[in-house]
Amino acid sequence: MSDQRRILITGANGVLGCVVARHFLERDPDCRVFLGVREKRDDAEALASCHAGRAFLCPLEVTRADDWQEAVARIEAEAGPLSVLVNNAGCHDDALLAHMTGGQWARVLDANLNAVFLGCQAALQPMLRERWGRIINIASLSALHPPAGQTNYAAAKAGVIGLTQSLAKETARLGITVNALCPGHIEGAPPAGWSVEQLQAARRQTPMRRFARPEEIAAVVFFLASREASYMTGAALKLDGALV
Ligand SMILES: NC(=O)c1ccc[n+]([C@@H]2O[C@H](COP(=O)([O-])OP(=O)(O)OC[C@H]3O[C@@H](n4cnc5c(N)ncnc54)[C@H](OP(=O)(O)O)[C@@H]3O)[C@@H](O)[C@H]2O)c1
Repeated sequence: MSDQRRILITGANGVLGCVVARHFLERDPDCRVFLGVREKRDDAEALASCHAGRAFLCPLEVTRADDWQEAVARIEAEAGPLSVLVNNAGCHDDALLAHMTGGQWARVLDANLNAVFLGCQAALQPMLRERWGRIINIASLSALHPPAGQTNYAAAKAGVIGLTQSLAKETARLGITVNALCPGHIEGAPPAGWSVEQLQAARRQTPMRRFARPEEIAAVVFFLASREASYMTGAALKLDGALV
C-alpha cells in the first residue's frame, strides 16, 4: 500500500462525521478524504472548500447497494483504492416497543445495520486486492447498555458489533482490521427532543460530568485507521467517560 490513504466517511455532514473528516485532513497531509453526504451538505461543502484537492463530496445513500458500488468505484478511479472506511452514518427514531411502527423498526435497522453490511461488502473489494484496509464502525453505548425506548437502535448497534467481530475474524490474516466504537453521549449532538434539564441530568450522571467532545471520538477513529493499529481488530471500544 502506498502511504497515501483514501478515506471514506459516511454521514460526513453530521456532527461526528464532519469532525472525523477534519481530523484526518489536519493530521495527514497525504490522505484523500471522501465525504459521504445524503441530504444536508453545507458543512461538508465548507470542509471540502477549505481542503481543495484533498477532500471531496461523495453522494451516498448508505442503504442503497448501488450507491456503495458507485462510490467505491469513483474513489478508485479518482484517487486509488479505498483504504479506510468509517461507517458513521446513522439515525435513531425512539419509541416504546408497544407503540413502535414497523416502519420505525425497519428504517433504523436499515440505516444503522444493513448499511454497514453493504458498506463493508463494497469496501472489501479493493481492500482484499490491496491486502490492506481499516474499517471503523460507529456503534453506540446503547448497544452494550440499551436504554428503554431504543429497541430498534440498540438492536441495530448491537448487530454492528456482532458484524464487526465476525468480519474481523474473516479478515484477520488479510491485512484488514475491523473495529467498532461505542460512544456515550456526544457534545453538540443531543438526543432529539431532550430538554436542557434532561441534558444537565445526563451530564451529572457521567463520572466526568460532561459528554464526549467529537474530537475525542475522532482521535480514536484516527488511531484505529493508522498503520500502527495493526494488531487491534474485532474490538468494541466503549467511549463513555466511565458512565457504565
Ligand atoms: N450523538 C450521539 O450522542 C451519539 C452517541 C453514540 C453513537 N452515535 C452514533 O454516531 C454516528 C454519528 O452521529 P451524529 O451524532 O454525528 O449524528 P448526526 O449529526 O445526526 O449525523 C448523522 C449523519 O448520518 C447521515 N445519515 C443518516 N442516515 C443516512 C442514510 N440512510 N444514508 C446516508 N447518510 C445518512 C445524516 O445525513 P442527512 O443529513 O442526510 O440526514 C447525517 O449526516 C451515528 O452512527 C450515531 O448513531 C451518536
